[in-house]
Amino acid sequence: MIKKIAVIGTGVIGTGWIIRCLAHNKKVIAFDKDLKLEKKLLIEIKRAWPFVKKLFNKKKLNLKNFKYVTSIEEAVKNADFIQECVSENYKVKTNLMKIISKIAKSNAIISSSSSGLLPTRIYSKCKNPTRAMIGHPFNPVYLCPGVEIVAGKKTKKNYLNKANKFYKSISMNPIIVKKELPGYLADRLQEALWREALHIINEGYATTKDLDRAIEDGPGLRWSLMGTFLTFHLAGGKAGMKHMLKQFGPALKLPWTKLKAPKLSKKLTASVIKGTKQQAKGKSVASISNIRDEYLVNLQKLRKKYADKIRK
Ligand SMILES: NC(=O)c1ccc[n+]([C@@H]2O[C@H](COP(=O)([O-])OP(=O)(O)OC[C@H]3O[C@@H](n4cnc5c(N)ncnc54)[C@H](O)[C@@H]3O)[C@@H](O)[C@H]2O)c1
Repeated sequence: MIKKIAVIGTGVIGTGWIIRCLAHNKKVIAFDKDLKLEKKLLIEIKRAWPFVKKLFNKKKLNLKNFKYVTSIEEAVKNADFIQECVSENYKVKTNLMKIISKIAKSNAIISSSSSGLLPTRIYSKCKNPTRAMIGHPFNPVYLCPGVEIVAGKKTKKNYLNKANKFYKSISMNPIIVKKELPGYLADRLQEALWREALHIINEGYATTKDLDRAIEDGPGLRWSLMGTFLTFHLAGGKAGMKHMLKQFGPALKLPWTKLKAPKLSKKLTASVIKGTKQQAKGKSVASISNIRDEYLVNLQKLRKKYADKIRK
């Protein structure tokens, strides 16, 4: 049973993990090499707490479950789960994992918050790397449920399953990535969009505001309910993804992006159609469209209230 969590590195992401864990009555012990951060951290916990309280129906913040320590030994030695949140750098993380893994209990899970580094490399000097992995969250960690679990070549499945269970126990929706790849899943998608946006700006086709609006008022609204595949399934009419690929497949060869698209082979076509069919869970395109439409009406009412505060 995972009860004691050590958070190493208390910048933006470490702070987010601490808040989420405290909201789920976990005992949290934190360490950062910058010892001055404790005060800042407590201010941030108090700032974020009203939102966390509302989301998770919590009564009050129990800071008795929280301890800030001044040595990594003290933070790690009794922990059941160690969430590393230090700077995104192979050398820093690899050296730190060597130290952590020597101090930690041999079966304590070590999970890195890295946004895209390969776990096999991060854990190359780790003692017992079978219990080590990536647990990549999204900012703000205390509100976003997403977390990508990525195994290294030596990670054992039973530890992945334990981590999966732990993340679920703090109200997250983990994705266990099939095999390690740089950037994992969401950041690869975000990065592709980001690179394309930079090309468009660089070539003078649009302003940053135009590009943000292009996402905010179109794809972005839908993306919070369903990702690209299911969204495109609905864009294909009654026949769904099958028709969508037939109609827009040729666009993959047009210069619509600086990234080169893979060939829309029979194998790729079949796996995209099969995958989206599974996601639809037997529901027709029309019935998912109804759910989406109701969601979009409600979402836009809510969105207006908040978007006006930013845009006006
Ligand atoms: N910021 C994001 O949106 C985001 C999202 C998901 C994942 N991540 C990942 O989370 C990790 C942390 O990112 P961040 O944005 O919180 O960075 P940050 O700069 O806000 O915080 C990093 C903290 O690590 C501390 N640190 C550095 N080396 C250390 C060491 N050896 N021992 C102890 N503490 C050390 C620093 O003092 C600093 O407080 C990175 O791997 C990053 O890729 C970031």
